Amino acid sequence: MQKLLFVCLGNICRSPTAEAIFDSLIEGNKLEGQLSCDSAGTSDYHIGERPDPRSLQYGEARGYHFKSRARQFHPPQDFENFTWIICMDDSNFRNICRLSDEKSHLKKVKRMSDFFPDSSPYTQVPDPYYEGADGFDLVLNLLEEACENLLQEVKKAYF
Ligand code: 4NP
Repeated sequence: MQKLLFVCLGNICRSPTAEAIFDSLIEGNKLEGQLSCDSAGTSDYHIGERPDPRSLQYGEARGYHFKSRARQFHPPQDFENFTWIICMDDSNFRNICRLSDEKSHLKKVKRMSDFFPDSSPYTQVPDPYYEGADGFDLVLNLLEEACENLLQEVKKAYF
């Protein structure tokens, strides 16, 4: 089983959205027996909470099902349990990388922007928490495209 972990700051906006989108790709491609995903935050701000109501509203409007409750990233288990750890922005990437000095852990840590199209003007998934509706729609647009590319990369690497 290959396991992906999506990481953002609060684990209530971006990473649960990535998880919901990727879950729908796993189901659509009938890969439930081979691939799974989860999400976590670098902070402890929202532990135990459901996703932000705006993420639920805009995500569910596109047909995604959110099953996550916020949790914090835990080294070393999360480094060991997941195949790839995919960070939404540069700050998340730096914060996760600070949590281990083992090469085998650090090579699993990736940026979601690694899976953006080459033509994308974005280099991170912007934090929508203090933004309006447009911020949440942008997150969904970026993550839908990135998750498709990510699935192709996982297939190339492992299947
Ligand atoms: P997320 O968004 O990292 O995409 O879940 C945020 C959620 C909460 C906060 C910041 C970003 N906060 O500061 O509480």
